[in-house]
Amino acid sequence: MFSFTIFMMKNFATLILLALFLFILQNGNRIEAFPDRIISSSSINQPYRTSYHFQPPKNWMNAPMYYKGVYHLFYQHNPYAATFGDRIVWAHSVSYDLINWIHLNNAIEPSEPFDINSCWSGSATILEGGEKPFILYTGIDENKHQVQNLAIPKNASDPFLREWIKLPQNPVMKPPIGVELNNFRDPSTAWLGNDGKWRVVVGAQNGDQGKVILYHSKDFVDWKVDSRPFFATDNTGVCECPDFFPVLIKGENGVDTSFDHQDPNFVRHVMKISYLSRLHDYYFLGNYNVFGDNENFVPDIKFTGTSSDLRYDYGKFYASKSFFDYAKNRRILWGWVNESDSTQDDIQKGWAGIQSIPRQIWLDKSGKRLVQWPIEEIEKLHDKQVSISKENLLSGSTLQVSGIIASQVDVEVVFEISEVESAEWLDPKGVDPQILCSKKEDGSRSGKIGPFGLLALASEDLREQTSVFFQIYKAPNRYVGLMCSDQSRSSLRDDLDKTTYGTFFDIDPTQKTISLRTLIDHSIVESFGDEGRICITSRVYPSLAIDKNAHLFVFNNGIQTMQISKLNAWSMKQAQIGYEGNISCV
Ligand SMILES: *[C@@H]1O[C@H](CO)[C@@H](O)[C@H](O)[C@H]1NC(C)=O
Ligand SMILES: *[C@@H]1O[C@H](CO)[C@@H](O)[C@H](O)[C@H]1NC(C)=O
Ligand SMILES: *[C@@H]1O[C@H](CO)[C@@H](O)[C@H](O)[C@H]1NC(C)=O
Repeated sequence: MFSFTIFMMKNFATLILLALFLFILQNGNRIEAFPDRIISSSSINQPYRTSYHFQPPKNWMNAPMYYKGVYHLFYQHNPYAATFGDRIVWAHSVSYDLINWIHLNNAIEPSEPFDINSCWSGSATILEGGEKPFILYTGIDENKHQVQNLAIPKNASDPFLREWIKLPQNPVMKPPIGVELNNFRDPSTAWLGNDGKWRVVVGAQNGDQGKVILYHSKDFVDWKVDSRPFFATDNTGVCECPDFFPVLIKGENGVDTSFDHQDPNFVRHVMKISYLSRLHDYYFLGNYNVFGDNENFVPDIKFTGTSSDLRYDYGKFYASKSFFDYAKNRRILWGWVNESDSTQDDIQKGWAGIQSIPRQIWLDKSGKRLVQWPIEEIEKLHDKQVSISKENLLSGSTLQVSGIIASQVDVEVVFEISEVESAEWLDPKGVDPQILCSKKEDGSRSGKIGPFGLLALASEDLREQTSVFFQIYKAPNRYVGLMCSDQSRSSLRDDLDKTTYGTFFDIDPTQKTISLRTLIDHSIVESFGDEGRICITSRVYPSLAIDKNAHLFVFNNGIQTMQISKLNAWSMKQAQIGYEGNISCV
């Protein structure tokens, strides 16, 4: 039997976050100017607080939306401690640009029998042509069962939607037959079918099978369960935060979840699952089938439980959610990024958990994976720029990128790949890329092409460094790249989780370059490899490479000389994140 308490203890770090939900509503007037004197973190006593990644003022954090010109970030939050708790609320911050944020009062707090023991994740859906936002969230009820509830804005004319009311019909969904009472949560954004009915999926578990369950409704309040699972995976445990959305076959624009999904010539579908048993966000590309009343999602490739499964991010990234931003016709993804220090450290810092930079996502031309790229708004924070072009990096060399604030930087480097045929041989079958990455000893063991890449948050003497790098191999009938983020030397402190992350990806032999963009922000190193096809996010806590003592290098430890065809790095300004009308914050 599954015990709720054990579940909570084991997973306290993860439950929390479960969901970001972004929701976007559009148009409308800006009522107030952005408060111009909000201050965010002070780095004096808080060297690890980020400067341009969203983090809550204090306490245990983690989860975002857009309505009438305003983006909303609702996140799972424990108001009482920097650890998980039994009275989780929906905290709320708003923004005009997804970069600068104003903290508001909590949007939803436990208060009724159907959510008295916590308000966990959910999603927002905008009904009636972008006029009516609804939140569907998981309540932990008086019996500690998981149920789904609805909330609507108290005053839809309030541009910030500060107050939310819970509907008297709650709960609107209870665990159906074949679903464990305490494993039924995280409703997705809803979509409208061609038959005029709303659909929503909810994550669940039965035994060891993870399930995604489909519900239908005509009025958004009265929901009927579909008894056949919409999607299921064996040996995975509970499916948290299912996110289901269409992507265009051609082009980088996003589409609304309700977009006419029947036409396979225009769209494919993505199912993202956060598997609690693995603490990673996996996604599947596939077909959304509607045959009469038989509706399901069939992935192109089934879950294997191996390193070949597709993940949004091969580092720290969980409980992500996407939303369609119809202000800019794009789909945006956010993930929750965990700490790598101890709970004790979190209590001392007074906070834990941050959000990734919002990423625009679309289907790669190959049709085989998604591409992710930091939203263009972050370029507003670009400050001083330095550039390098056409510079050779000989075998074993390291080049410092000077003239920037290396603790707070956006850097993009493009390496030329010449003679890909000379790459060394490796059959990736059965090789765990993460283990291979950790054997690279910080990228110092040489291969023919690579390791080459960046040393982020490095001390001057390189005793501390987080190396993000590639190596290229010749595999049977193809070329593969290995991308790694190695934290083993990220800090002189030894009480940290320094797991090295890595993954394989296909290299197109006609491809002449390979790129790496990394967003460095005090304690986060968020990397987008091969133009965003591969992402790896790490959390690191250097003891020397702090603030002005942090350095950034490009390196090549491969035998072959690598050319930097171009490198651009920008010091980043601090985002304005604070309370409404309160300058003495955080
Ligand atoms: C609703 O919000 C609008 C805009 O802030 C405000 O003018 C109005 O007084 C509010 N209505 C109520 C009932 O609070
Ligand atoms: C949070 O971080 C800890 C320590 O690094 C790790 O063991 C745990 O799996 C992480 N949880 C998630 C959801 O990433
Ligand atoms: C400003 O924020 C601080 C810190 O949370 C709080 O103690 C103070 O009461 C706030 N002041 C106002 C005017 O809201």
